[in-house]
Amino acid sequence: MAEVVIVESADAAGELAAAAIERLVRTKPDAVLGLATGSTPLTTWRALAARGLDLSRVRGFALDEYVGLPPGHPESYRAVIAREVVEPLGLTPSLVRVPGDEGPLKLAGESYERAILEAGGIDLQVLGIGRTGHIGFNEPGSSLASLTRVKTLAEQTRVDNARFFPSIDDVPMHCITQGLGTILRARHLVLLAFGKAKAGPIAAALEGPVSASTPGSVVQLHPRVTVIVDESAAARLAHADYYRHAWDNRLDWER
Ligand code: GLP
Repeated sequence: MAEVVIVESADAAGELAAAAIERLVRTKPDAVLGLATGSTPLTTWRALAARGLDLSRVRGFALDEYVGLPPGHPESYRAVIAREVVEPLGLTPSLVRVPGDEGPLKLAGESYERAILEAGGIDLQVLGIGRTGHIGFNEPGSSLASLTRVKTLAEQTRVDNARFFPSIDDVPMHCITQGLGTILRARHLVLLAFGKAKAGPIAAALEGPVSASTPGSVVQLHPRVTVIVDESAAARLAHADYYRHAWDNRLDWER
């Protein structure tokens, strides 16, 4: 079962996620991190930066990227990851890859998968969840076994992400994203969600049926998942009392 931790704020969640990353990097200084974009992981990056660790040997693989933005566009995930993750954390830019950043787009999925394998796989994958229930950009209907590939964005996702662009017409129609199968291969998943808009997607992902219609539900198939949510995002969890009880009574070696 996933470990579900309900915390009072996004800042508290960021501290917990940063602590998990610190534990990993202390035992493996060249750990491989899966990097999510979006507003959700920002408190994690902030808390991690404040820990002052040497992360220069850490390797990174972004979860997803838009297709069709001009190179260097400030809202490309390449630029977002550089600004919000690589610079503040002191990662080495050449050790961080973004899907679609090399070679022809048609072959980009395969070459990204190969690069992840050559790096020894992703140790810890940070994840947010979209309002459609997507993780990465795996929209409803994505195969549970899918690998990195080009996808068409759902209209809801384009509407949600329009806040980063001058208008909805400027939001790309396509993306390239790690697949649900790629995400399942990471050794540890840390899924974060805050606010009431995420209560439905989180309840469906953690407690609903495992289904391609609910891409986030794929985390139920993973042996090591840490879900960190605030009270609003936890509002529709049927087993919230149990999750709190299990966390409050976690064993010493789990702390
Ligand atoms: C985006 C990203 C996802 C992210 C999600 C939620 O579309 N592709 O990786 O998890 O939407 O975004 P936010 O964290 O801003 O709510």
